[in-house]
Amino acid sequence: MKKSDKIVRYTAPERINHWITAFCFLLAAVSGLGFFFPSFNWLMNIFGTPQLARILHPFAGVVMFASFIIMFFRYWHHNLINRDDILWAKNIHKIAKNEEVGDTGRYNFGQKCVFWAAIICLLLLLASGVVIWRPYFASAFPIPLIRAALLVHSFAAVALIVVIMVHIYAALWVKGTITAMVEGWVTSAWAKKHHPRWFRELRQKQEKSTE
Ligand code: HEM
Repeated sequence: MKKSDKIVRYTAPERINHWITAFCFLLAAVSGLGFFFPSFNWLMNIFGTPQLARILHPFAGVVMFASFIIMFFRYWHHNLINRDDILWAKNIHKIAKNEEVGDTGRYNFGQKCVFWAAIICLLLLLASGVVIWRPYFASAFPIPLIRAALLVHSFAAVALIVVIMVHIYAALWVKGTITAMVEGWVTSAWAKKHHPRWFRELRQKQEKSTE
């Protein structure tokens, strides 16, 4: 492939940021499922022992949150909903057949929904997680609040796991997307097909800088 055919989508610091988030998500999600269902207790061994999982799960969650916040401030403006997104959503049946609809920018409507759902779930997980965090903070809160926080924590965790499963499925389903987050680049054909407005804007910027 010609060098000119490759477009940078994520720089190395952006990719490291993303994979730290993903790694912490994996640790927190797997150990959390281990706490939740007796038949999944063995999943706690992801941290070595159940005792270590109990201690380290909240720290993995906090690192995931902190790492995602950096991504949040990097990408929030690319994830604002616009008119083309409504068109995209109305034609979801065509998207499912691998057709493209609307003048999509850096992210499509599906990606934007994942982005906003992730930040909502992570904020709920952090707030409820602090309330139930023994031995550091839980003793400062009344029992009814701890019970409510446990419920919020469980629902937000299940929601985030489902959202990330959709995110991973989409990343694998759209050919050429994984290289964006592994090696940092996509082909111009990929960009033109899936994110035409982003592609045009990049080209315009390049033309301006060579003038
Ligand atoms: C192992 C699991 C994961 C895989 C395989 C994966 C894969 C990817 C890929 C390929 C992209 C690039 C998509 C594009 O540029 O079009 C991406 C972007 C992104 N990922 Fe992941 N990811 C994973 C886990 C996560 C987790 C756990 C989070 C957050 C909690 C996350 C949040 C994001 C965000 C925010 C973006 C940028 C898209 C946007 O802002 O709308 N990812 N991911």
